[in-house]
Amino acid sequence: MPMKVLITGGAGFIGSTVASAFVERGVTPVVLDSLVTGRQEFTDGKIFYQGDIGDGALIDGIFRDHPDIAVTVHCAALIVVPESMADPQRYYRVNLAKTLELAGHLVRNRCDRMIFASTAGMYRPEADLSVTETSALEPQNPYTRSKMMAELMLEDLSAAYGLRVISLRYLNPIGADPRMRTGLQHSRPSHALGKMIQSYEQGVPFRITGVGWETRDGTAIRDYIHVWDIARAFYEAASRFDAILPPVQAAGRQRGYQVINLGTGDGTTVRELVDAFREVVGDGFQAEEALPAPATWSARSSIRPRRASCSAGGPSTPSRRRSGTRSSGRPAAASWTWPDPDPHDPAPTGPPARAVRSFRPNQAGRTERAGRVTPPHPSEATSRAHA
Ligand SMILES: NC(=O)c1ccc[n+]([C@@H]2O[C@H](COP(=O)([O-])OP(=O)(O)OC[C@H]3O[C@@H](n4cnc5c(N)ncnc54)[C@H](O)[C@@H]3O)[C@@H](O)[C@H]2O)c1
Repeated sequence: MPMKVLITGGAGFIGSTVASAFVERGVTPVVLDSLVTGRQEFTDGKIFYQGDIGDGALIDGIFRDHPDIAVTVHCAALIVVPESMADPQRYYRVNLAKTLELAGHLVRNRCDRMIFASTAGMYRPEADLSVTETSALEPQNPYTRSKMMAELMLEDLSAAYGLRVISLRYLNPIGADPRMRTGLQHSRPSHALGKMIQSYEQGVPFRITGVGWETRDGTAIRDYIHVWDIARAFYEAASRFDAILPPVQAAGRQRGYQVINLGTGDGTTVRELVDAFREVVGDGFQAEEALPAPATWSARSSIRPRRASCSAGGPSTPSRRRSGTRSSGRPAAASWTWPDPDPHDPAPTGPPARAVRSFRPNQAGRTERAGRVTPPHPSEATSRAHA
């Protein structure tokens, strides 16, 4: 696949890792990022344009400089859920309006292949807490709605202008680039793994918030996915783009839009994550049971990939679910090892809230146990709460 790929948001957590995955497979990434949240050092050694995805003149210039760009990977976005609730206008402007502008710039420059970084947080989970591409959509906050609206918009554009879009939906990326070139800019994410790292560093027990959920071991389940698996899936989608979505004329049809979920298939419970983390750091890591955090926690959910052809590392059959980088141990290790690149981001201080041992759900506990199905993933219960 000798070509170049334009990666918007390529200085961010996922975009930078995707860029490295392309480099390792001989594809040259061209990074476009405003650095509003991304890190310039994540673009080291790569072709980098600092600027906005809505800047048509800049994008025309990029395509003049690199007429061999064959695919655009669109990762640029604002992703912090609480921030999107406080300032939805900004989120709709960047995630929706600027995506519309970007799509126009790509069509004008005859780049008709886009891979859109999307979120599985827009699904309403099925009764078994899993989601598939056919699950109902029920986004719960402006961030997630902005991503869903962007998808609907891209689907309409694809029907009219020949733009072809593969939308990859995932949740809960963890870990870092295996060669530690890039990782999460915020080294202490407040999802469960981030809190484990924090507890271990502070020498206090990690609190398993809720053990009465209707999951396989009673603790909440999330479909954590290694960011390198996501990156490989983006590469696979790019390298097989025309097989997944043939050009409209060749296919003799109008469809130019395809959704593909990325997930492990069965998710990881908090207890399993505790075990994986203990494997990484040793027996010194303690965990104890506590009451569920109010409202924000839910038991959901895992992602059942249906279109195995594009899932990271090959077909995602149950027998492979725990193989390769899919297991929670390796991303846990990578997250633990990943250094803090932000010197202005001191570790949180102060005593942890008092843990309550031996919690059992009360009789009325359906809401307490099964929880609301609304917040799509643990990071939404948190301060960074990216999705
Ligand atoms: N991190 C997650 O939990 C998660 C889950 C599901 C989907 N996603 C999606 O994956 C993509 C990447 O997420 P991430 O975790 O890497 O986020 P990130 O914040 O680390 O990266 C986003 C990048 O986009 C850049 N950017 C933002 N607005 C821009 C603009 N107008 N023009 C140019 N660049 C701009 C930022 O500077 C940043 O480098 C996003 O589209 C997000 O919606 C993320």
